[in-house]
Amino acid sequence: MTESKLWGGRFAKSTDKLVEDFHSSISFDQILYRYDIAGSIAHATMLGRQGIITADEAKRLVQGLQEVLADIDAGRVEFEVGAEDIHMNIEKILTERVGDVGKKLHTARSRNDQVALDIRLYLRDETGEVQKLLLRLQRVLLDLAAAHKASVMAGYTHLQKAQPITFGHHMLAYFQMFRRDYERLADCKKRLNRLPLGSGALATTTFPIDREFVARELGFDGICENSLDGVSDRDFIVEFIDAAALIMVHLSRFAEEIVLWSSNEFGYITLDDAYSTGSSIMPQKKNPDVAELVRGKSGRVFGHLLGTLTMLKGLPLAYNKDMQEDKEALFDTVNTVKKSLLVFAPMLATMRVNVEKMFERAKGGFINATDAADYLAARGVPFREAHAVIGHLVKYAEDKGAGLEDLSLEELQRFSPVFAADVFEHIKIANCVAARNIPGGPALPAVEAAIASGEKWLAAQA
Ligand code: ARG
Repeated sequence: MTESKLWGGRFAKSTDKLVEDFHSSISFDQILYRYDIAGSIAHATMLGRQGIITADEAKRLVQGLQEVLADIDAGRVEFEVGAEDIHMNIEKILTERVGDVGKKLHTARSRNDQVALDIRLYLRDETGEVQKLLLRLQRVLLDLAAAHKASVMAGYTHLQKAQPITFGHHMLAYFQMFRRDYERLADCKKRLNRLPLGSGALATTTFPIDREFVARELGFDGICENSLDGVSDRDFIVEFIDAAALIMVHLSRFAEEIVLWSSNEFGYITLDDAYSTGSSIMPQKKNPDVAELVRGKSGRVFGHLLGTLTMLKGLPLAYNKDMQEDKEALFDTVNTVKKSLLVFAPMLATMRVNVEKMFERAKGGFINATDAADYLAARGVPFREAHAVIGHLVKYAEDKGAGLEDLSLEELQRFSPVFAADVFEHIKIANCVAARNIPGGPALPAVEAAIASGEKWLAAQA
C-alpha cells in the first residue's frame, strides 16, 4: 500500500485521505508539465553523457519523456491526486511506460531543485509574454498620441483643472509608465535566468553531474552558485509579482481615468459597444465594466505580493513545504496581468475621443491662470507677486461669473499696469499649450519628439 508512493519505503501506514488532498498540488501545478519534462530531458541527457546512467538508458528516458509530453499535449493523460504533484505524476507515468529505467530518472536530483527549475522556466516564458502584451498596449498608446497630438484637454491636479495639455501628451505619460514596467521585467529576467538544478535537496549530490551543460541546454545564463540558495529562495517570484503589481497600479489609474472620462460629466471619450456593458434594469446604461474590473483586479495581485513575502519571511533554509504556496499566487498574478493587458489595448484602440467636447471642457476653471501669471513675470513682475495679482483677478472674475479672457484690458490693468493688449493672445488655451515647448512638455513639437523617441524604443524591442 505505502509502496504505491514514490517515497513510501519508510512508511508503515498510508497517508490519510484528508492529508493527501491537503498537500497535493497537482490540481494547480500541472500547468508546469512542459517545463518539468524539458528539465527532465536535459537532466537525463546529462546523466547519460556523464556515464551516471548508460547512453541507452538516457535515450529511453528521453524518448519516453517526449511521448508523455505528446500525450499530455493531446489531453490523453489523467493526473492523480495521490501522486501529489506534477513532478511525481510525470515520473510515475513515465515509469509505467518505459519500465524500470524510469526509476533512474531521479538519480542525482530532488524535487526541491526540480520545482525551483520548473518555476524559473515557466516564469521566463511568461515574463516574455507579459512583455509582448505591454508592447501591444504601448503601440496603441503611440497611435493615440499621434492622432491626438493637438487635441487640447484639461490637465488636472487634485482632479481640479490645472493647466491645459493635449490628449496625446496624456497618452504618452502612460507610455512611459509601461516602458518602465517592460524594463523592470527585463531586469527581473536577468536574475531569474540561473539554473537551480544540481542543488539537489539542498547539498548537491554525490554523483559527478555537469550543471553547466544542463544550464546551456535549457538556455540559462549560468547556475545558482549556492545549492541552499538554489532551492530556498523565491525572490525571483517576489520580484515578478512586484513588477506585475506596478503594471496593475498603472492600469488601474488609467482605468480610473477611463471611467471618469466616459461619464456624462466629462464626456471626453465614448467606449466602443464591444467594450462596454449594459444594466439589467436601466435601459440607458452603458457601463465601463472592463476598466472597472481591471481596477478591481489590481487588488488580488497586491495581495499575492504580500502573501508571498509573508510565506517566505520566517522559513529556515532550505526547502519547506510552505513554499508550495508560491504557485497559486504566481499563476494567478500571471493570468490577471495578462488578461488585463490583453483587454485594455483594444478597449483603448476602439474608443472614440470626443475632441470638441474635451476642448470645450478645457476652457472653464481658470486653466490659463498660470499663463497669465507667467505673462506678468516675463515682463519683470516677480513671479510671487504676479501669482498674487492673478489670484485677485481670478476672485474678481469668478464673482462676475467670467473667465480671465472675458475681462476687458481696462479691468485687467486695474490689477496690474503691466497688462497690455497682447495678453489676450497669451491666455488663449491653444497658445497656453503651444507655449510649453519644453522637452517632455505638451506643445506639438515636444509631443512629436516624444512620439519619435517612443517609436524608436518600440522598434528596438522588436
Ligand atoms: N510540490 C512541491 C512544491 O511545489 C514540490 C517540492 C516538494 N518537495 C518536498 N520535499 N516535499 O513545492
